[in-house]
Amino acid sequence: MLNVNKIREDFPILNRKVNGKPLVYFDNAATSQTPQQVIDVIVDYYSNFNANIHRGVHTLSQEATDLYEQARIKIQKHFNAKYSHEIIMTSGTTHSINLVANGFSALLKKGDEILVSALEHHSNIVPWQMLCERTGAQLRVIPMNQQGELILSDYDALLSEHTKLVFVNHISNALGTINPVKTIIDKAHQVGAAVLIDGAQACPHLIPDVQDLDVDFYVTSAHKICGPTGVGMLYGKEAWLNKLPPYQGGGEMIAEVTFEKTTYADLPHKFEAGTPNICGGIAFGAALDYMNAIGFENIAAYEKELLDYGTQQLLEIEGLKIYGVSENKTSVISFNIEGIHPYDIGTILDKMGIAVRTGHHCAQPIMDFYKIPGTVRASFAFYNTKSEIDALVNGVKKAKMMLS
Ligand code: ALA
Repeated sequence: MLNVNKIREDFPILNRKVNGKPLVYFDNAATSQTPQQVIDVIVDYYSNFNANIHRGVHTLSQEATDLYEQARIKIQKHFNAKYSHEIIMTSGTTHSINLVANGFSALLKKGDEILVSALEHHSNIVPWQMLCERTGAQLRVIPMNQQGELILSDYDALLSEHTKLVFVNHISNALGTINPVKTIIDKAHQVGAAVLIDGAQACPHLIPDVQDLDVDFYVTSAHKICGPTGVGMLYGKEAWLNKLPPYQGGGEMIAEVTFEKTTYADLPHKFEAGTPNICGGIAFGAALDYMNAIGFENIAAYEKELLDYGTQQLLEIEGLKIYGVSENKTSVISFNIEGIHPYDIGTILDKMGIAVRTGHHCAQPIMDFYKIPGTVRASFAFYNTKSEIDALVNGVKKAKMMLS
């Protein structure tokens, strides 16, 4: 069981007011809030350990290096990767995806096909379109149904010996649908395709076991999991990471440099050119510690309660339609009210201190599918409460009255 009142004490930002009203933060799918325990680690790092890593013999550099590498091991253990060098520290999910897409430039050719799902965020569409432009490979789309789920029979029909790569998010940021990624990975492997799973929206709600999934690449960002922005990870199977060329050149990613030839460092450093976000990496580890201390099972059970309550309360509002109604979904409610633009609802809610995201949520193809300009998206985290949901429902009712 999770003690939400106690948990809320960990988040200083939840005490602030917005437009004179207590903040109700329902934009967790965009970024989660940061607990004091993680803020303390950031302050402690800059107060006591700040130095560049992997470079100095001096004590500060060695201590900072140890903290950073300990964080990598925490991340490895959390995702159950076989080796810590399979964890590449990046600036976030988008960086991780671009790293892999760039690496595949040398491995694809005309006639090859790559599959993405209709539920993807732009960050899991555009880098693959750019890869297709570079290589002549063709992008094909796994379609979705009205419930906001992928149509697996169509996925089966798309898979062939031409399929080289499959990209799917673990959970849709716009609708909250949990995709059956294990099945998707197994089927792709049967035709010899590699799979990248975008876990940005999944990692706040569950622990992906990369070995159990047998996934080739798994990517996520720390800021969705109570960590800071600007840091994330790419998990890649050792064999794949060895096969891909480096993404960026620079310091730290080399074994030896002469003007004639450069040889590259071993994993993970081959992919980590330049000074990384050292403090961010350490805080990423601290954020996982924080979430694990609460327990992901407790988090998932509580968020399900919030989702069910929020869905039921919002659906009582006449004219309100929820997009994304899969049985398998996380605590994201995307909705519209007939005849009212989502932006207008979001603006009125903000005046009441309620933070939601409005618009296409960087997933324009989903909005095109439903033939809507966007939605209002309320995304709940484990530190939200039912009384905050009541405030949202009242706010939406008021907005509807003002705008109808
Ligand atoms: N991908 C983030 C969201 O869904 C920014 O809001």
